[in-house]
Amino acid sequence: MLINHHRTVRWRKWNRAVAVVSVFAVLLVLGLSLFLILRNNTRRPALSTSDTPSDLVPLTLLRNANLTGAFCLDGSFPGYHFQKGFGSGSRNWLLHLQGGAWCNSIASCSERKATNLGSSKYMEQEVNFPGILSSDPSQNPDFFSWNKVVIRYCDGASFAGRPESEFDNSTQLFFRGQLIWEAATDELLSLGMSNARQALLTGCSAGGLATLIHCDDFRDILPKNAKVKCLSDAGFFLNENDIAGNHTIESFFHDVVELQGVSKSLNKDCVAKKDPLKCFFPQEFTSSITTPVFLVNSAYDSWQIPNILVPLSSDLGGDWSKCRLNIHSCSPRQIGILQGFRNSLLKALSDFLQINGGVFINSCFVHCQTLAETWHGPAAPKINNKSIAESVGDWYFNDKIVQQIDCPYPCNPTCDRVS
Ligand SMILES: *[C@@H]1O[C@H](CO)[C@@H](O)[C@H](O)[C@H]1NC(C)=O
Ligand SMILES: *[C@@H]1O[C@H](CO)[C@@H](O)[C@H](O)[C@H]1NC(C)=O
Ligand SMILES: *[C@@H]1O[C@H](CO)[C@@H](O)[C@H](O)[C@H]1NC(C)=O
Ligand SMILES: *[C@@H]1O[C@H](CO)[C@@H](O)[C@H](O)[C@H]1NC(C)=O
Repeated sequence: MLINHHRTVRWRKWNRAVAVVSVFAVLLVLGLSLFLILRNNTRRPALSTSDTPSDLVPLTLLRNANLTGAFCLDGSFPGYHFQKGFGSGSRNWLLHLQGGAWCNSIASCSERKATNLGSSKYMEQEVNFPGILSSDPSQNPDFFSWNKVVIRYCDGASFAGRPESEFDNSTQLFFRGQLIWEAATDELLSLGMSNARQALLTGCSAGGLATLIHCDDFRDILPKNAKVKCLSDAGFFLNENDIAGNHTIESFFHDVVELQGVSKSLNKDCVAKKDPLKCFFPQEFTSSITTPVFLVNSAYDSWQIPNILVPLSSDLGGDWSKCRLNIHSCSPRQIGILQGFRNSLLKALSDFLQINGGVFINSCFVHCQTLAETWHGPAAPKINNKSIAESVGDWYFNDKIVQQIDCPYPCNPTCDRVS
């Protein structure tokens, strides 16, 4: 994820900010993966956090990729991990869209091509299914017996890129995220999802954003009488200026959308009304999704704080070097600025809350909470004595209005166990 070489100084400035964000994003993903792997002290790959060996699920490459032209950035076939449902869950389907940031330039996408986020050549042959994917009812009380699928992320644009934006020179990058989404769901329909009674589309981070982008499509491809809902984990990326007043994330998302021709995959109402490049931000379109949506997000998301609010480019003096990575190291003045970020998030959510959208907005310094012990169990963060799993269960199965909004940091003692 590096810089591309544009003609104007303005672009160079943008790109420098973006490069820093991107490099950090890659480091964060790598660091997080390493942390999870080391913590487990096993050979298991990055999705792993649980120790149930039966939850190791093999990679399948898309069979129909040759016909559909659904390719990863490098032209390899995309893949997914499928664990068959059983018992009462055998006609229920949970799809998880994997995350892992984005690439925003020819250079950064070319680099990504040589990683497991851009090519199936480098993907793990099996991954663990933790949290909401676990088949252990004590960790995952509601969805443990469902058919569960992780669709691997290898397009760099939240499953929303378009081949029309590919270059017809020797750049050799495939922008096929939208086709990957379509081909993968087609294949799953043929594996039994076309008979689904209940279904949940979910995903975390860039996959949480993809969940929002594709939520209504997902509803449309399933039987009319099926219960279908969408759960976006850490996918509500806020369009907020950084502490230096620069539009770091807006520029970055702008570049992703422009490079990969993402606009055509975005919400039609939003694109008709606004600059399409802004319609990649969930705050611009989540309220117009017609399928029921639930958002799990920290108000101090540990990816958003160091990449949106305090990217390295905004902290040249280094005052934030500790705080941006660890909320417990922040000074009272810095906490005040983080509270401002939380207020902006709650404001951006106000329309969605008004239409009774489901939320679990907690105050732990975390990113992605459905794929780990943070989902449920003794170590899970709670609001009003409910875990994320219990809150999502009440919303999904009982059709309750669930709006769990935590008090501001540092008031919630259940956060001490996770961050
Ligand atoms: C951010 O803003 C400051 C002043 O507000 C400016 O000097 C600096 O060049 C900007 N940084 C980037 C990376 O655009
Ligand atoms: C896909 O198509 C290419 C070109 O026609 C062919 O060489 C390749 O073997 C095919 N791959 C699979 C898995 O069918
Ligand atoms: C391909 O075309 C794009 C867009 O015009 C350009 O930015 C890029 O540098 C070209 N790549 C090569 C290898 O010529
Ligand atoms: C919190 O929830 C647990 C399990 O759901 C329950 O056993 C416990 O009594 C609850 N505690 C309070 C204070 O409501």
